[in-house]
Amino acid sequence: MIPVLVLLASAVLLGGAAPALEPVTCSDTDGAAAARVAVHHINENHKHGYKFRLGETRGRTVEQVDDGCNVDLQLDLLETKCSVLDPKHFEDCETRSQTDRAVLANCTLMMTVEAGDAKVTKYECDVRKEMTNEQMVRVCPDCPSFIPLNSPEGLKSIHQAVQQFNQNKTNERYYVLQEVGRIKSGYMMMAGTSYYTEFVLVESHCPMGSRIMPWACTPLCPDRARHSFCRSSHTDKYGVMSLECELAPPANTEALSPGQQEPVCDDRPSKAAPGGPPTTDGLPPVPMCLGLHDTDPALHPICPWPAPLLLPLPRPHQA
Ligand SMILES: *[C@@H]1O[C@H](CO)[C@@H](O)[C@H](O)[C@H]1NC(C)=O
Ligand SMILES: *[C@@H]1O[C@H](CO)[C@@H](O)[C@H](O)[C@H]1NC(C)=O
Repeated sequence: MIPVLVLLASAVLLGGAAPALEPVTCSDTDGAAAARVAVHHINENHKHGYKFRLGETRGRTVEQVDDGCNVDLQLDLLETKCSVLDPKHFEDCETRSQTDRAVLANCTLMMTVEAGDAKVTKYECDVRKEMTNEQMVRVCPDCPSFIPLNSPEGLKSIHQAVQQFNQNKTNERYYVLQEVGRIKSGYMMMAGTSYYTEFVLVESHCPMGSRIMPWACTPLCPDRARHSFCRSSHTDKYGVMSLECELAPPANTEALSPGQQEPVCDDRPSKAAPGGPPTTDGLPPVPMCLGLHDTDPALHPICPWPAPLLLPLPRPHQA
């Protein structure tokens, strides 16, 4: 009985009831087990943006070697609506419809299989919109288009939504912006330019109603903080039109011992500018990957794994 309980407890800690992965074998006929291991591995290493699910296996080659095989996979993945910070298991996350602007990734991945033990050795993925903004306009002229994740106007609309969020007295503490997921923009005759955003907030150490300005608050540690997954809409004329957020409980709910202060760990890529409200240059930059160029500035890339080694710059010769 005990081992089962331990397994259950670790499944909960990892977030979601992950069904056990079937072992990968070299005689695996349809490659389903290998594809599942592959998508698990990609999600585990993917730290920004959204979780992905398997769309289809486009290609698979198996090369028999001494005591196992090498497997090459070509996979099509679909972006889900779950942020990477969402505790839900990726297989429980909804994928996006075409009108919600679906995003795909095509990946090439290598794996070695030895005695039922599969190890991913390398992968690369290209993330792209299912339809480009131009194709989308032809299908749906009034649908909003993707704009870059660091668009100043888009970020301004997110800041206003965060301010509104922090006026909600139901929350115990102020929240700060952790990551922008996507920003779309359109035009409405009566209201001007509109912005549709998705972003993640993290709980800070500042109690609700504290005199510290929310933007100057430091996030709680990632495992102890609640996260809030928000969608907002905003128009030039009317400001924030809608704000819907879903709160996720912290991964670690252990009570602090009496008198112990809530620990603080600020792991945001960049902090609010000191001494003033956040400016657009104080905001998280567009996510980038080592060794990956020309990625779409409106989308979070999947970074190649393992990350390419950065060669140290040659030392200048001392004269
Ligand atoms: C994705 O697909 C394109 C076009 O089929 C191909 O050129 C590219 O190499 C693929 N990328 C990866 C990482 O597999
Ligand atoms: C305030 O937050 C609570 C809990 O997070 C939520 O249920 C409620 O809808 C929010 N109220 C407003 C006005 O946003």
